Amino acid sequence: MPARILDGCKIRDEIFAEIRPQAVELHLREHIRPGLAAVLVGDDPASHLYVNSKIAACHHLGLSSWLHTPPATSTTDDLLKLVNELNRDYRVDGILIQLPLPKQIDTKRILEAVDPAKDVDGFHPINLGKLVSGRPGLVACTPAGCMEILQRYHIPIEGANAVVLGRSDIVGKPMALLLLHANATVTICHSKTHDLPSFVKRADIVVAAMGKAGHVAPDWIKPGAAVIDVGTNRVTDDAAAARLLKNFPERLEKFRAKGSVLIGDVHPDAVNVAGAITPVPGGVGPMTITMLMSNTIKAAKLRRGDSSASPSGEHSANQPSTPGASSATSSASGAR
Ligand code: GUN
Repeated sequence: MPARILDGCKIRDEIFAEIRPQAVELHLREHIRPGLAAVLVGDDPASHLYVNSKIAACHHLGLSSWLHTPPATSTTDDLLKLVNELNRDYRVDGILIQLPLPKQIDTKRILEAVDPAKDVDGFHPINLGKLVSGRPGLVACTPAGCMEILQRYHIPIEGANAVVLGRSDIVGKPMALLLLHANATVTICHSKTHDLPSFVKRADIVVAAMGKAGHVAPDWIKPGAAVIDVGTNRVTDDAAAARLLKNFPERLEKFRAKGSVLIGDVHPDAVNVAGAITPVPGGVGPMTITMLMSNTIKAAKLRRGDSSASPSGEHSANQPSTPGASSATSSASGAR
C-alpha cells in the first residue's frame, strides 16, 4: 500500500488560518502590522523567486514587508550598515538575509549582526544556543516546519529512532536538536558516514537533507517509516529522470515536455515502502515560508511584550505547537 502523503500545503493552510487572526489582533491593538524586512543581495534568479514568495506570503497574511536589494558588489560593511538600520527600525519585527550571500561578504558577521529578537530565520548564535539548551527562541524555519508536519500528522516521535541525513547549520543540526527535544533517539549521518543504508534501515523517522536527487534508495527504508524529504533538486538530465521516474510515467512525460523536474533526496519509489512521506514538491517546501511567517508574528508579539507568544518550532516539540500568534490583513511593501 502506498504511503500516506504528508501534505505541506494542507499544513500551511492550517497554520495560516491560525496565525492570520493573530496578526489582525496585533494590528488592531498596536496600530502597526507585524513587519518583515528581506535583504536580497545580487541577481541570483532562484533567490529572487524565493524572496518574492516570502513577500507574497506577507501580503497574503497582511504583514508589512520591505524588500532591500543591494547590488551584488556590496561589501560586508555596506550590509552591516543596512542590518543595523533594520535593527533600529521599530516597524521591522523580522529580518531575513537571503542566503547564499556573494563570496566577498562575510556571511557569519552579517548573520551575527541581526538583532536576535528579529532573527526570524533562527540563524543567530544566541537563538542556536537557546535551541541547544531547550529554551524558547526563534527556530530555523525548515526544521521547525518538518516538526510541524510530524506533529500535525501525529507521527510518534518519542522513543522513535530518527535519522537525519545532512549536518548543515540551517537544517540538519537544528532538526536533530528538535527531534532530540521531542525525545527521539537521534542519529546524524553525513558525507563521511560509513554504510549509510544500515542507519536508514533502522530509522522510524528519516529526515533527508543532503541535497542529492533520489539518493535515498527505497530498499534502505524500513517498511512503515515516516520519511521527511527536505531535498528540492532540479533534475535536467534525461537518463537521470528516466531512472528516477520509471514508475511515474505521467511525471516523466511532464519532465520531457518541460526539460526539468524537481526531485527530493529520496527516490520517488520510496512511496511504496514508507508508511508516510512528504512529496516533492508540496511537502517540506511550503513549510519554510509558513514558519517564516509564524516566526515574524511571534517576534512581533515578543517585541511588544506579549507573553502569549511562544517561540515557534518550540523545542518542546513533543507538543503540537500552535505556530505564530496572530495575523494581519494587508501589507505594505517597499524599498527595492
Ligand atoms: N537560502 C536557502 N534557504 C534559506 C533559508 O531558509 N533562509 C534564508 N535566509 N536563506 C535561505
